[in-house]
Amino acid sequence: MIYPIVVYGHPLLRKVAEDIGRDYPGLEQFIGDLFETMYNADGLGLAAPQVGKPIRIFVIDGRALAEDDAEMGAFRKVFINAHILEKAGETELMTEGCLSIPNLREEVNREGRIRIEYYDENWEFHDEIYEGYKARVIQHEYDHLEGIMFTDRINPLRRRLIRGKLLAISKGKFEADYRTILPGMKTKSA
Ligand code: NI
Repeated sequence: MIYPIVVYGHPLLRKVAEDIGRDYPGLEQFIGDLFETMYNADGLGLAAPQVGKPIRIFVIDGRALAEDDAEMGAFRKVFINAHILEKAGETELMTEGCLSIPNLREEVNREGRIRIEYYDENWEFHDEIYEGYKARVIQHEYDHLEGIMFTDRINPLRRRLIRGKLLAISKGKFEADYRTILPGMKTKSA
């Protein structure tokens, strides 16, 4: 099932998501649906709050980047009950986008290295270190679990300049080829 994606300005994107138990109903189906929704929207990652579920799950699949970056191309993962334990390393500025903020791309400063614990889809526990672009994508998706949008992390002057754009997006003034949910729960067709 392809979910509509919740758009910037919706309060569901601002909640801190909760851990789930192994008995969470329909988990396997939900994870499959997250991937399906992400592929349908040509995304690189998708977090449960973006489809309206305030739980600590996100998925990543870098296969769209396979041509330029073999390592990202083979990076497909499910993160359940994710918690970042540490961020370190040089910060780096890089352009990001988000399916919840259609057609807006801005430079975001992020740490180069993270340590994260999570469970995978088989409930195996992991405590791992990621660097570079993987660390960036994970931090972006992880932020969704904390109610943080990438636009919160851009420089304040730039953020002021795009305030009008964000307001327009939250009112549905954008073109996206996937279904969305606007603040106020109106759904918008592709
Ligand atoms: Ni995002």
